[in-house]
Amino acid sequence: MVIRDYKPEDYPAITDLWLKTGLGGAHRGDNKQIIEKSIKMGGKLLIAEGEDKRLLATSWMTFDGRRIHLHHFGVLPAFQGRGIGRKLTMESIKFAKNKGFQIKLEVHKTNTEAIKLYTQLGFSYLDDYLVYIVRSYDD
Ligand SMILES: CC(C)(COP(=O)(O)OP(=O)(O)OC[C@H]1O[C@@H](n2cnc3c(N)ncnc32)[C@H](O)[C@@H]1OP(=O)(O)O)[C@@H](O)C(=O)NCCC(=O)NCCS
Repeated sequence: MVIRDYKPEDYPAITDLWLKTGLGGAHRGDNKQIIEKSIKMGGKLLIAEGEDKRLLATSWMTFDGRRIHLHHFGVLPAFQGRGIGRKLTMESIKFAKNKGFQIKLEVHKTNTEAIKLYTQLGFSYLDDYLVYIVRSYDD
């Protein structure tokens, strides 16, 4: 397994992985253009790739000039529990550290696997904040 940067030809496999891990979808405003724009803005999309070139996991980090936001972090279900998430989290933290910015993420309170992983690797819980979003301006 190698961890490498996103390439435009990864996009179909990424869409598939995000569907299988419950991470993606148009309702979240995720598409190829936004991924590539976020990279131009200083973000990074890390890919874990198997020896057979299969895309196994993603970690998408966006940069707003102030902090790195980690999201779309997921491992293909058949490959979970093999240490890929751990390695990818460590690489993600390394990216943020080398860039010199704090790294922040949101995780659902019931996602105990992910919470365990993130806290083991240095993320601290940020009190009782709630998360809000405007998904659409149509109504
Ligand atoms: C959360 C996720 C990324 C973990 O990836 P993974 O490759 O399975 O994790 P690893 O094998 O590297 O395990 C690393 C750590 O994760 C935690 N973990 C992973 N699977 C776990 C499980 N079934 N139960 C409890 N903790 C678990 C543990 O802390 C584990 O370390 P340990 O084995 O030393 O205790 C993966 O389960 C996933 O993709 N889930 C669906 C998408 C998702 O929820 N992403 C997070 C969105 S915020």
